[in-house]
Parts: sequence; structure tokens; C-alpha cells
Amino acid sequence: MEVFDLIRQQSEYMKSVIPLIASENVTSKFVRECYLSDFGHRYAMGDVEKRIYSGCNIIDRLEELAIKYTKELFGCEHANVKPISGTIANLAVYRALTECGDKILALPVKCGGHFSFHDSANVRCLRTVEMPFDPSEFNIDLDNAKKKIIEERPKLVILGASVFLFSHPVKELVEVAHEVGARVMYDGSHVLGLIAGKEFQDPIKEGADVVTASTHKTFPGPQRAVIMCKEELAEMIDYGVMPCVVSNHHIHSLAGYAMACIEMLEFGRDYARQIVRNAKALAEELYNLGYNVLCPHLEFTKSHQVVVDVGNGCEVVGKLEKANILTNPCLLPWDDDKASGIRIGVQEVTRLGMKEDEMREIARFIDMALKDKKPIKDIKNEIKEFKSNFLTVKYTFEEHPAY
Ligand SMILES: Cc1ncc(COP(=O)(O)O)c(C=O)c1O
Repeated sequence: MEVFDLIRQQSEYMKSVIPLIASENVTSKFVRECYLSDFGHRYAMGDVEKRIYSGCNIIDRLEELAIKYTKELFGCEHANVKPISGTIANLAVYRALTECGDKILALPVKCGGHFSFHDSANVRCLRTVEMPFDPSEFNIDLDNAKKKIIEERPKLVILGASVFLFSHPVKELVEVAHEVGARVMYDGSHVLGLIAGKEFQDPIKEGADVVTASTHKTFPGPQRAVIMCKEELAEMIDYGVMPCVVSNHHIHSLAGYAMACIEMLEFGRDYARQIVRNAKALAEELYNLGYNVLCPHLEFTKSHQVVVDVGNGCEVVGKLEKANILTNPCLLPWDDDKASGIRIGVQEVTRLGMKEDEMREIARFIDMALKDKKPIKDIKNEIKEFKSNFLTVKYTFEEHPAY
């Protein structure tokens, strides 16, 4: 059976690689069990207690639970747990809070912005104005961002990013945005697990009107998303999600999300703390080995990510892949169209139990591969041996094989 064969091949492959893709994670067996449940065969269009199809009573309880845990974890007034991806969540907010032709303000992709701030915003005919960015601080340029909000009077100000090292100035920009009648959306897709674990800024407390986030990056849940907002926006956001951009909300993965919330309530603080420590340890070691890791003056990172200016991101990522080290290229603020950076994320290796010592070892593997210090076959064998001690999912109720 070809499909099962590919599944086996993928598991074997993952046992032999160092996964450092910043947008991925592994789920626990409890979350995976949810995928296989009968929920995956059902529809539950509409809201709790107001479904279109019959037979949804138990699904209603599930959705209530997912909402309850989201509120507990993040302290939001309203939660919509229906979006099936981060991009869909952002589209729903555009539908809810903008009109076709409106201006929105967001980071360009080369400064860490996600393409859903640009290409997907086109779906609603929005015009994206570039958020000013300070490359030396790898953060929003606060003074110029304030000026731009006043000059451009956008309908929506988007904070958050895909390449995301440091907290954004949410509180400061909310004040100015509200003065010109704009709403503030914070896209916490990358850092949702760090927010849940209280290791990153709390955009809700800082006043963001809406927080969108996918639930499978630092938050170790299934591939889907959540939207949190102030109560006054609840009705508009809910309509923006369903029926506007979601019909079937993938109830098996909703169950998995509720399960991941339970895990994060129990283990989220320890997990998030270790992620940030690991990112810093990896950055420091790479820097000591002579790599141009961004922001040494800011201790490199306060998130799960490390960004390195390597000159030719695609070439370096390809070379690392040959040694079974998985990363991705990223544009940096000074790039035109050729990515000079690589982005490294440590949330998955942290979930497998790695700590600071292993981060230093990973830095040495990266160095070995990039400087051709050994034949590639030997490096791959050493990596497989190294990984063999980290094939178990941690920060859950019962440790078990990851792949
Ligand atoms: C900041 C940000 N927003 C949205 C998304 C889209 O999420 P999804 O892949 O779940 O559609 C991503 C994905 O990487 C992201 O980095």
C-alpha cells in the first residue's frame, strides 16, 4: 500500500533529522487520538446550540470546552475556535473589520511579515501600507510607525510576524491606532505557545482588539487556528469566520486543539521557558562559531527563533538539508529578492526534550555541515545517533514516541 509506505518512510526520515523549521511542531499521542475520532466525519455548521444539522449536541460540548480552555489560557473576552488555518483566521478578520479598498498597515515580508498581510489581503482588495521597521533592533520602528498611522489612517494595524525575535510595541501602537479609528490585530501564530506559557508579551492585556494565531507552531496543537477578540467585536468576527471563510471546521482537529490547550495549561510554562532558553543557547553558540546571528546586542532572541545572515539563504538551507538539518531561508530587511537569511526554530527539538547542551551540539552540527568538516555521510550518521536519544514527546501527560 503506497500511502502507508510513504507514512512509514516519513516517520523514519523524521527519526534521522534535526527539525528546526520554526513553524512546525509535533503533537502528543492524546492530540493524535483526537484526529482519528468520529468527529472527523461530522459537520457542525453554525454556533453552539444553533447548528444547522442535527446530531451536534456532543460537538457543542466540545466547542464549549475548547472556548473555555482558550479563555483560561489567554484571558480573552471572546474566542472563535473555528478557523482551519492562520491564513483563514486573518481573512476572517479582514472580512469582519474592513471594507474592500481599505488600507491596512503591516510589516513587509522582508521584515518578517506574513504573506497573508499582503497577498491574502488582496482577496478583500485591501491596500497594504508598509509598517516602518528598524533593522538594527529587528523590530517595528515605533516613532515612524506612529507617524505612519496618523498620516495614512489605516482601517487595521497588523502587529506580529513570521520572523519574530522580540515583542512588538502593542500598547504604544494601540493608543495611536484608536485615535485614528483603526483596530489593532496581533497575529500571534508563531508565538502562541510562548504567550500561553507567559514567556512572551501578552497582546490581549496590552490592548490588541483581535489576536489571530495558528495553533501548531510554538503551540503544540493540530494545524488550525484561533481568533480571540474583545466582546464588542464578537458578532462581527464570528460572522467573518462562519459562514464567510469556513464551512466545515474540522471537528476532529478542534478536539485535538482542546487537548493541546489542556496540555499547555499543565505544562506550558515549563515548555515555553525551555524554548526561549534553547533559542538563546543555540544563537550564542552559532555566534561564537563565527556566524552572523542577528541582534547580538539584544541577546539574539526572546522567542523560539534564531535568525542568521548567511548571504545566500537558499544555498545554505540546501546544504543543511543534505546533512539532515531542516531550516528555511528567509528574506532580511536589506534584501531585494534573494533571501540572505536562514530562520531556525527550536520549539520541536525542545518538545523532544533537548536542552541547552543539545543546542550547542546542534550548532556544532550546523558548523560541521556548512564548513564541510566531515563527509556528509558521517555527519548524517552522527546526527542519527544524536537524535536517537530524542525521539520522545515531552511536556505531556505520558511520554511516548514522537514519530
Ligand atoms: C505570522 C503568520 N500568520 C499566519 C500564518 C499562516 O498560518 P497557516 O499556515 O496556519 O495558514 C503564518 C504561517 O506561517 C504566520 O507565520
